[in-house]
Amino acid sequence: MRIIPGRSINGHLRLPGDKSISHRAALIAALAQGKSEISNFSTARDCASTLGCLRSLGVSIDFKDDRIVVEGNHTLVAPRKPLDCGNSGSTLRILAGVLAGHDFTSELIGDESLSSRPMRRIIEPLELMGARIESRDGKAPLIVHGVKEPAPITYELPVASAQVKSAVLFAGLNARGRTSVIETTPSRDHTERLFNGFGVRVTTQGESSTQGRPQSAAPTVRAETTITLEGPARFEGGAIRIPGDVSSAAYFVAAAMLLPQSELTIEGVGLNPTRAAFLSVLKSWGGDVETTDVQEERNEPYGTIDVRGGMRGDATDRTLGRAMIPSLIDELPLLAVVGSQIDGGIQIRDASELRLKESDRLATTAANLRAMGAEVEEFPDGLSVSGPTKLRGGLLDSHGDHRIAMAFAVAALLAEGESEISGAECVAISFPEFFPLLESLIRR
Ligand code: S3P
Repeated sequence: MRIIPGRSINGHLRLPGDKSISHRAALIAALAQGKSEISNFSTARDCASTLGCLRSLGVSIDFKDDRIVVEGNHTLVAPRKPLDCGNSGSTLRILAGVLAGHDFTSELIGDESLSSRPMRRIIEPLELMGARIESRDGKAPLIVHGVKEPAPITYELPVASAQVKSAVLFAGLNARGRTSVIETTPSRDHTERLFNGFGVRVTTQGESSTQGRPQSAAPTVRAETTITLEGPARFEGGAIRIPGDVSSAAYFVAAAMLLPQSELTIEGVGLNPTRAAFLSVLKSWGGDVETTDVQEERNEPYGTIDVRGGMRGDATDRTLGRAMIPSLIDELPLLAVVGSQIDGGIQIRDASELRLKESDRLATTAANLRAMGAEVEEFPDGLSVSGPTKLRGGLLDSHGDHRIAMAFAVAALLAEGESEISGAECVAISFPEFFPLLESLIRR
């Protein structure tokens, strides 16, 4: 994909539904009793993987106008073929939790990238709950031998991971008794919010709980949180409208902030504090970013983001680390790009999890920034990016990773000269509309 630098980003838009919320809404609808209608369902290829797996598990899913209609009846049937999760870690890990609580055997497979990612993090707790999971040395393909009634457990997450937390909580739906997950760093809480939104009571105790907090408050303190649900849980389906994907919005927000003449409004976008922390970070770096009109849909906050181009004042805190990392996790490559434009640069630390994503995002971010002339130091757990740097257009590599492709499309807009991003079609993993939408907003 060829990217020509831009002068500004201007416009008013709404985005397809959030990927993380869409996965969970589809799974909840499949396990609920009765019909659910999900509107603004994500157009991400990852979410299509979740729907494909659910169909193979006997769930009826139809597309009707702008929504999907799911017929659930509390249970799934044994699949006749392997469940293909494609590139989607959320599909594979959370579905493994669902399957751990079903009394049949199923195989979960994925593409090359997904098959190289760590799965012991879900195997361990799900086996404690009574499932047996065969793997290829802790990686997919996974063969899940589920049980009708998993054992309720209390499990402290060894890594801050919403996927692992969600796998345990979904398995807990069929357990008899209390299933608790202890987090020492808050990760995205969509599963908890949606379970509560669909009538499955989930309690969150401890200081780092973000439910009910204003959306501007980024979770920054290290504190222990215990998330508990009581199984077996039976619940009804219903209607839900998925808020626009805030991680997709991030690329447009950052581009608008960095291109001085920009004015951009994004409506109906998810503002869950465990996801929208990058907005506070951009503000602390001098961005003119505002959120208004905050409402809720089944406990998920959403609203409007307004951005005006240009930086105002000096960056205050230029280090991203510790408890902030999980709530910024998918935006860190983009924040590294923004950091290259900040006076004094930025530091990212405590982010070794980035090496285990769709690509090794510390390495792929550093390599592309360097290819554009930025000075970057790489650590085992982070990056130090010098700034401000006038980036040079050049040959960039997505490494098949959608978030790297989109972060560097933003970098390419700021650069001197054209850039070429190889493998950029991978943006369809989370945001198929990304390039046409970007093109429609750019002024040159
Ligand atoms: C996700 C959780 C995060 C995130 C991923 C989606 C989810 O992964 O990086 O894009 O939907 O729960 P981890 O849970 O592995 O941190």
